Amino acid sequence: MESPLGHMSRGNRLGPTDNESTDLALCGAGRFSIMPLGDTSLKVLVTGGAGFIGSNLAECLLEMGHSVRILDNFSEGDRRNLEDLKGDLEIMEGDITRSEDCARACRGVDLVTHQAALGSVPRSVVMPELYSFHNLHGFVTLCNQARLAGVTRIVYASSSSIYGDLKESPISETNRGLPLSPYAASKQGNEDFAAAFHYAHGMTLVGLRYFNVFGPKQNPRGPYAAVIPLFVSQLLRGESPTIFGSGEQSRDFVYVRNVAQSNILGLFGDLPPGAHLINVGSGQRTTINDLYRLIALALHSSITPIHVEERKGDIRDSLADIQRAKSLLGYENSIDIHEGISRTVEWCRNHPDRLR
Ligand SMILES: NC(=O)c1ccc[n+]([C@@H]2O[C@H](COP(=O)([O-])OP(=O)(O)OC[C@H]3O[C@@H](n4cnc5c(N)ncnc54)[C@H](O)[C@@H]3O)[C@@H](O)[C@H]2O)c1
Repeated sequence: MESPLGHMSRGNRLGPTDNESTDLALCGAGRFSIMPLGDTSLKVLVTGGAGFIGSNLAECLLEMGHSVRILDNFSEGDRRNLEDLKGDLEIMEGDITRSEDCARACRGVDLVTHQAALGSVPRSVVMPELYSFHNLHGFVTLCNQARLAGVTRIVYASSSSIYGDLKESPISETNRGLPLSPYAASKQGNEDFAAAFHYAHGMTLVGLRYFNVFGPKQNPRGPYAAVIPLFVSQLLRGESPTIFGSGEQSRDFVYVRNVAQSNILGLFGDLPPGAHLINVGSGQRTTINDLYRLIALALHSSITPIHVEERKGDIRDSLADIQRAKSLLGYENSIDIHEGISRTVEWCRNHPDRLR
């Protein structure tokens, strides 16, 4: 087993624990607890750190006492996501598609977690070149500059979209489907290049196949907004949200803090060298109707949703098999959908300016 931290990761940083109850422990934990860092604080590069997942992850790393450098071009990210972060934080404005920006960002860092990418499957269908450039060329550029800077482990955001319309449920990592969109193709490309970087250069790359991530700081605006912040913001405005089709289609919704935990375990945990692919979900099936009821309940809203025609190309069900995340990383879906929705709703209530 290999650790990017060598002897430092053993004993004085992360160790077996019986107490995993606090949020701080959860950030870096599963089967590890967070120990006082002393002088072992590391410098971690978070690309896309001004975005939804990246800013939540940066917050967890800072809480653990690490130094964080964020690289973001602020095309989708929001500076307000960084306002409440406390600790040793450096913000670099730059682009992962530019070698010089990546080289600057990787200089002096110990580890890299890569979250920068363009999201939205529908937008990728109309702008495939843009997605290939940012999501694939950007990934390769970042990995290569990280390699040249001496970084030996990179954790990166892949996506459940790589499963295409495969019907297996829950779906495990041995599967890979047809890339049904340029976005999915770009994420498949990340996984292929990660394997190539491992075989050619011996680096360890951990590809986390996120399912439907939700939580504070997720963007509720624009035509490609994710369903949870959209429902919450519409209900808070007294509007009726729209549900496509019967609402009995299901997804695997995973709270962002659990996703941050999976990244931290991927960065610091003992892993065999390789190009790993790991599902990150809740392992729980939730229909859109159930989701709606949960959100309406949390908001004490009696507004009924409007059902419209099913969206063409929408898959019926998506559910992660999270056994590999548990066994390889020590990952747990520690914050379930009920707690996650309640925290998200509270955050939205406290940040009305972020919903407009
Ligand atoms: N949110 C989800 O449910 C979900 C699901 C599967 C995979 N993912 C992946 O997780 C990662 C993070 O997603 P998110 O939801 O936080 O998205 P986000 O849009 O909130 O964050 C992405 C960040 O990357 C930045 N960025 C984009 N292109 C860049 C470039 N060329 N150079 C530098 N920065 C750039 C954006 O400005 C933004 O801050 C992405 O790779 C996404 O594909 C997300």
